[in-house]
Amino acid sequence: MCKEISPERRQFLWKAAVTLGAGVCLPVVLSWLPGCSSETKQPTEPSGTVELDLSAVPELQQVGGAAKRRFAPYNNEREVLIIRLGQTEFVAFSVVCTHMGCDVNYPTGDVIPCPCHGARFAVRDGRVLQGPAERPLRRFPCQYDAARNVLLITF
Ligand code: FES
Repeated sequence: MCKEISPERRQFLWKAAVTLGAGVCLPVVLSWLPGCSSETKQPTEPSGTVELDLSAVPELQQVGGAAKRRFAPYNNEREVLIIRLGQTEFVAFSVVCTHMGCDVNYPTGDVIPCPCHGARFAVRDGRVLQGPAERPLRRFPCQYDAARNVLLITF
């Protein structure tokens, strides 16, 4: 036995169906329009590992030495600051200051200064010692292969 649907209920069901249909179809339609898609693709940064032959980098022969090198396409083609902290201990940072993107200078003692607005970063871990930067320098993992005198830097 079927009940007759009242006009109010029929109208409610119609509105619900239209709303549900739009909710399902609209994202599909938008995804067909590249300019309207909410999932705009971001360029992905390349990743990989590079080998730096330390015998060819005189600045890194001594503990406390530092060198800047570019490993395109990594680090958006900006330089990397490599610092020798010990006989077998190294750190590698992006030179890009996290304040407004200037290249940081070579370290002075335990400090990596930025020449643009005075930010200062710690040599050991890149943390901010003095603003205006608020975030640490980007650090890339590195591993020293003593047998080959090679530094492996991972991006
Ligand atoms: S860009 Fe380095 S302190 Fe502003």
